[in-house]
Amino acid sequence: MSIPVPEKRIAEFEKFGFGMFVHYGIYSQKGMGEWVMEIAGIPRDEYKKLADTFNVAKDAASKWVKAAKNAGVKYIVLTTRHHDGFSLYDTKGLSNYDAPHYLNGRDIVREFVDACSAEGIVPFFYHTTLDWYQDSFKDDFKSYLQYLRDSVELLCSNYGKIGGMWFDGNWSKPAGTDWEEDKLYEVIRRHQPDAIIVNNTGLDARGAVGNPQLDSVTFEQGRPEPMNREGQPKYLAAEMCETMNDHWGYGSGDLDYKSLSQLIETLCACRKVGANYLLNIGPDAEGEIVPMQSALLGGLGKWINECGGCIYNGKPSKIHAVERKNFALEADGKAYLFIHGIHIAGVANVTVDDGSGIGPKNFDRVKGKVKRVRWTDNGEELNFVQDSEHLTVHASGFPYGKNYVVRVAEVEFE
Ligand code: GLC
Repeated sequence: MSIPVPEKRIAEFEKFGFGMFVHYGIYSQKGMGEWVMEIAGIPRDEYKKLADTFNVAKDAASKWVKAAKNAGVKYIVLTTRHHDGFSLYDTKGLSNYDAPHYLNGRDIVREFVDACSAEGIVPFFYHTTLDWYQDSFKDDFKSYLQYLRDSVELLCSNYGKIGGMWFDGNWSKPAGTDWEEDKLYEVIRRHQPDAIIVNNTGLDARGAVGNPQLDSVTFEQGRPEPMNREGQPKYLAAEMCETMNDHWGYGSGDLDYKSLSQLIETLCACRKVGANYLLNIGPDAEGEIVPMQSALLGGLGKWINECGGCIYNGKPSKIHAVERKNFALEADGKAYLFIHGIHIAGVANVTVDDGSGIGPKNFDRVKGKVKRVRWTDNGEELNFVQDSEHLTVHASGFPYGKNYVVRVAEVEFE
């Protein structure tokens, strides 16, 4: 059985490698996540008042995009409409519950798209399929689906070329519900033939394959598994989306942040299996990125810049790492060894670790004769021994002053 060849847009999407999710809406004012309307049981008319006090900083979108660029992110997925039904874009009369009606005509999606094009970042649109605002969602589902398609058509025809549409909410109705997905995706393909289409399968069905028009599977808040593509009708990409703490939308009281080390390791774990990592930020009421989130983004950017640039083109490799967590990617005839747990060498008086993690690292199934191995962060050449397909690399420690969490060695072949 063979593995299908990815369509061009899907191959390009895989090379993006790292994306940023932005959950922002009128709910951000409450600082209690994007589900606050439902979970706190706020009646629609009361919740709606949040639209009156919505105030988006003039440069909010451009700050998101600059932070993303600095983090090494290639695409951003913005919540153009979330489950509360409020649209950040101009719905052109489909609904009054949109940004231009409350922000003196401003269209936040337009501002976002313009900021992306200024920085060379690819814009993607998250769009809810579940809607707590529209009566028709409950009472007249067929007409709701038409409203959804009309909404999506606006997004696909008024903002230039987009990277993709990212849907979420089909898990809200019983399996077997007819969401008329073919019709929805046909609208996208008509206006944006090169757009990636994703429909989040949620926490309960990670990695599930859906409608044939979809281009990627999702692993919401979970470690992506290697994809088995043999004999599949279409090559699908994979993407794992994750929060930095426990909320997507701004959670002012949520202190449960992942560490920078964890985020670096997760980015690596995604790329190990060829999946994209879509890391979320939840800007505050006015759209400012909170300091903790911007610091974590900056740290990831530094890691990519200093040693992890191969995550974009690097593909999962057949090379097998003997030691836990380590793995290899390959690109342009080279291999990249991702080595975990390396410590700072030779300064026991001042650094708490004991230099463990330094020493031989073993890899099997190495085809080809190795010419040179060196760290990507400082170019230092590493001693190695090769015995046919087995390679042992002597990993040196970080020099005092550095610790990049996951260290990457570039392998050149004869
Ligand atoms: C979930 C949530 C939603 C969030 C999404 C992101 O499906 O319902 O609020 O936007 O995950 O993946």
